Amino acid sequence: MRPSETPASELAFAKAIIISGGPSSVYEAGSPTIDPAILNLPSALLGICYGQQLMAHLGGGRVEKGTKGEYGLAVARIDPKIPLFDTLPESQQVWMSHRDLVAATPPGFTVTASTPTCPIAGMADPARRLYAVQFHPEVVHTLSGRQILDNFLFRVARCEKDWNPTAQLEALEEQIRQTAAGRSVFFFVSGGVDSTVAYTLCLRALGPERVWGTYVDTGLMRDGETEFVESIFKSLGATHFHVENAQQRFLEALQDSVEPEQKRHIIGQKFVDVQDTILNSGHFLDGDWILGQGTIYPDTIESGGSAKADLIKTHHNRVASIQKLIDENRIVEPLASFYKDEVRAVGRQLGLPAEFLERHPFPGPGLAIRCLCAAEPAAVEKIENEGWLVPIHSVGVQGDSRSYRPVIAFEGMPEHDVATDVINRVARVNRAIAVVGSHAPIETMSVHASTLTKGRLARLRAADAIVRRMSLESGFEAKVWQFPVVLIPLGTAGRPDSIVLRPIHSVDGMTAQSVPMDRALLERMTTELLALEGVAAVCYDLTHKPPATIEWE
Ligand code: XMP
Repeated sequence: MRPSETPASELAFAKAIIISGGPSSVYEAGSPTIDPAILNLPSALLGICYGQQLMAHLGGGRVEKGTKGEYGLAVARIDPKIPLFDTLPESQQVWMSHRDLVAATPPGFTVTASTPTCPIAGMADPARRLYAVQFHPEVVHTLSGRQILDNFLFRVARCEKDWNPTAQLEALEEQIRQTAAGRSVFFFVSGGVDSTVAYTLCLRALGPERVWGTYVDTGLMRDGETEFVESIFKSLGATHFHVENAQQRFLEALQDSVEPEQKRHIIGQKFVDVQDTILNSGHFLDGDWILGQGTIYPDTIESGGSAKADLIKTHHNRVASIQKLIDENRIVEPLASFYKDEVRAVGRQLGLPAEFLERHPFPGPGLAIRCLCAAEPAAVEKIENEGWLVPIHSVGVQGDSRSYRPVIAFEGMPEHDVATDVINRVARVNRAIAVVGSHAPIETMSVHASTLTKGRLARLRAADAIVRRMSLESGFEAKVWQFPVVLIPLGTAGRPDSIVLRPIHSVDGMTAQSVPMDRALLERMTTELLALEGVAAVCYDLTHKPPATIEWE
């Protein structure tokens, strides 16, 4: 991966170059650009999204500012005669996420794909091996995306395949030994798939005496989590494993924060504080130790770690203090170039149990970013012919940019695609929910000023445990990629909070789709959740990613 301003002369060796997407507009001052001479290199070239717009702009075509944008699924008609679309049917489901549009192709290019709202969804000059698409072949919702990328690499550019994640074990272990350079590795394990796989790799590479692990019990985890993590590490043969009880410290640090990035920042700092305390109380600082982490590739992209990706959420393992350790070269992150599905493949190869590897991902900051807070009370507001505007802000991602906007609520369960439509129409919101059950009509509810308290966390933990138990028993758990349960401060005086169910499908967390749920299961779940103390309503998140993120914060 190279920065966009890399001169063409440094890329002349490449068989293939991909110019990737980003949230900018080619007309904005300071937006990323490329050396136009790249278009004249002998390399095969593929522009994706903003990459297509740059190719059009620099090659003598025309890009137009879009007003509405297009986010989500679309059907494209493609030209199957060009090598990029070789073997593909003419009609293709693709994923769009853009505002600007290419309005005229550069000289030499022809249009190779179009959708009803995007007439130039693809363009090419096959003789010069220049290809571009407005849609995203790299996300799973573009059903033939993988084939398109394969066609580009192996047919157009004639590259050879030499990457296979499961064949990398030996190389990964060797890399760990080199990075450790005789030192031992200390992990703060979370019990998640990523840090456990990273830990197991280190254990294999360096042996149990040189790999230590501490689990920090932040009090922000799900029901029964500490006991579960202890049992896993015992079974791995980890001899130096310890649980640090830090519940009180985290709760005190978080008691006044409302804003998601502030919560993440505080949690990140607290992790570092607790870490400092632990490291200082042992022999870990004497230069014989480095820190191990389970960071995976999407974590680095979404923290703005890769070149120009906009900052959507700061993931805690990239806050400044950790960056300092990275700069000092005292860190090992064996999975930093892997996607989630590849981490699972490595885990299978390592012999980790399937039930564990198929565990849903769970965010490091835990229930803190699923327990929404509000600085001030606020009323819900009727939006004529649309639904109810609930003034609780959640994070979204539109055209790779972060948004932080209120939610729109529908009474009852509408058709699933209503969410995408309404968000394209009502620019003020980035997420849509259906109220599936409640103790009071929505117009009698309001948003309450609220913070992260022990009581609210306990309420969320109880709701999450109910949802998890019923999902497991019904088999629904295995059908979804992740099932966040969110507590929002919307309710009545006696019942100040509501629960949001957010079951989603995804492959790597980069994009996701809200999953419809069996009505009978949803009804049973709603009944149990409404019986919880303090819960006014149960809602269901209908939004895909984009335009919303998976987590609310
Ligand atoms: P979003 O909400 O960004 O989530 O669509 C994508 C995936 O990342 C997880 N996630 C996090 N994981 N620290 C983490 O370790 C975080 O701060 C964080 N935020 C989101 C999320 O659960 C989903 O699987």
